[in-house]
Amino acid sequence: MKTFYATTPIYYVNDLPHIGHIYSTVVTDVLTRYHRLLGEKTWFLTGTDEHGQKIERAAAAQGTEPIELANRVVLRYHELYRRFGIANDDFIRTTEARHRRGVEEIIRRIEAAGDLYLARHEGWYCASCEAFYTEKELVEQKCPIHGEPAAWQSEENVFFRLSKYAGRLQEIYRSQPGFVRPETRRAEVMSFVEAGLKDLSVSRTNIRWGIPFPGRPGHVVYVWLDALSNYVTALGFGAGDERLYREFWENPDGRRVHVIGKDILRFHAVYWPAFLLSAGIPVPTTVWAHGWWLRDEKKMSKSVGNIVQPDALVEEFGPDALRYFLLREMAFGQDAAFSDQAFLERYNADLANDLGNTVSRVAALCRQAFGSSPPEPCDDNEVIGAWERAREAWRVAMDESAFHRGLEAVWKLLSEINGFVVSREPWKILKEEGPSRRLSRILYACAEGVRLVAVLLSPFMPETSRRICAALGAAAKEAALEDLEWGRLSTGAALPAPEALFPRVDAAAYFSTEEAKTMSTNEPARPAAAPIADDDGRISIQEFQRVRLVTGRVVEAERVPKSNKLVRLQVDLGSEKRQVVAGIANRYEPEALVGKNVVIVANLKPAKLMGVESDGMVLAATVGAAGDPSLLEVAADVPPGSIVK
Ligand code: ME8
Ligand code: MG
Repeated sequence: MKTFYATTPIYYVNDLPHIGHIYSTVVTDVLTRYHRLLGEKTWFLTGTDEHGQKIERAAAAQGTEPIELANRVVLRYHELYRRFGIANDDFIRTTEARHRRGVEEIIRRIEAAGDLYLARHEGWYCASCEAFYTEKELVEQKCPIHGEPAAWQSEENVFFRLSKYAGRLQEIYRSQPGFVRPETRRAEVMSFVEAGLKDLSVSRTNIRWGIPFPGRPGHVVYVWLDALSNYVTALGFGAGDERLYREFWENPDGRRVHVIGKDILRFHAVYWPAFLLSAGIPVPTTVWAHGWWLRDEKKMSKSVGNIVQPDALVEEFGPDALRYFLLREMAFGQDAAFSDQAFLERYNADLANDLGNTVSRVAALCRQAFGSSPPEPCDDNEVIGAWERAREAWRVAMDESAFHRGLEAVWKLLSEINGFVVSREPWKILKEEGPSRRLSRILYACAEGVRLVAVLLSPFMPETSRRICAALGAAAKEAALEDLEWGRLSTGAALPAPEALFPRVDAAAYFSTEEAKTMSTNEPARPAAAPIADDDGRISIQEFQRVRLVTGRVVEAERVPKSNKLVRLQVDLGSEKRQVVAGIANRYEPEALVGKNVVIVANLKPAKLMGVESDGMVLAATVGAAGDPSLLEVAADVPPGSIVK
């Protein structure tokens, strides 16, 4: 049986989680959900790294015990993971007994291999990295990652014969090209090992907060040997029940993937496999080192003090909006900048507009046209072709862990479904023919396309995927491989009243509110105002934002026969053309209207005025007692389809 085991780094408990930590965990969640969807047996591990100097110091600085600090921070992780829909199977803490026993067993094996010896050790130490640096690696006497002054340390340590493994490591990098990904990181690791490996000190005598080193009184296990071991100790290695270990680590058909940030590549791609080789344990199949989220062009980190706390964003926009943003905005493997502005832009454009509007439009049409009697299956339409191309592109991208491209493929499909809807004008057919067979087939194609979008999105946005299925009356279960086939939409259920998946947010208004100011700080945001009118008739900004106002250019205008006031306009909205009927003929000659740039209410339910369909409304001021119309006009250089807010 194919198994898929994926892990996140285990995070230090010296501080609260931020977007960077959440990112690695969300990526691992997406990855395991994807493999589960493919029918593989998966296991997803995350956890916390609780020993070492860094934690000892942080606790002392807060006047507390290390374990108290750890207990507090672990709760925050649990809480955040629940809110982010993280479906981890296990959570390991390095202070657990099962972990200590496993570490002891690994050390026993490394000792038996003759790979440990005692020697004096001196060097420059960065406590934030928990690692020694050579003089050359320091930048102006400071740690190259944290920019903190490194401290000279000198002590008697247990050493691990890392140098002995250089050849076998190089053999792994050569024969297992996917061992380190992406390719640039593999090259980095290879040249590091080629430059020569020195033995590694794997015990400490200057601290107490750690696992006592077996057989070496006064020494505790070096925190990285302790921490890296979690990937097997959590599976029960060395602690009695090794069933999970055998199933997910020793299985020759199994994949073992470590998702990490590039800051800890050396530990995972050099030290960890060397420890494993020494202990006679299989090495991982892949170490995937992603890039950094930057803010102000610096790695987001506690030490630098430029972190984004996820709470306020989740509170305000829901977990899936953030999951989407993190996976779409960062090309997996490269660095990306986090900005609230970019987040809101993607939220409005990709989620509120492309995804949300398409789903609600299709669901509303189905509900309107068919009530409880479903549309008929249809398997000869352009949506099928678009779907097949999207599925292929998505599979290729997902297998390469190119998540941003996986999402791009889904958005391409969405836009093709949209194009299909616009070109077939099902609302017109509904007006003219009622729920005819022709309409039935068109709407089936749209609804089935949208259901498949939901399946492709399920690893990324599990909650949204379920909501989309519910809006279409499709089964709300975790997606499986067979759901990736055309024609599986279960028709027959009555459709619920549509709700907006992602209500639009006005970025400018957002940034002027308190919520915006607290977005990047520790304080949680105020909950969003309820989208209902207050007693004094005022509406919230959210309510107003449900009205979609866009600019349009009038390309045709003619009087509606037998009407004094009505004129039928064809308006170019950039991505589509709309027919809008307006009561302005008493003040405007049709010819004079052509070429005008006007403002359209674009998401108004279509209506018939004197038998002519109007899909939208033109805004005009009403002047004087007679209420004469005066069109709201926009400067000629504003392109059609611009948002008005
Ligand atoms: O290094 N951008 O823990 P840690 C992207 N305990 N990812 C980021 C990030 C950023 N700005 N900041 C943090 C440790 N991360 C060790 C690991 S594993 C056996 C022991 C993510 O709390 C990224 O995955 O410093 C990075 O590698 C990890 O958090 C470091 O977390
Ligand atoms: Mg770190």
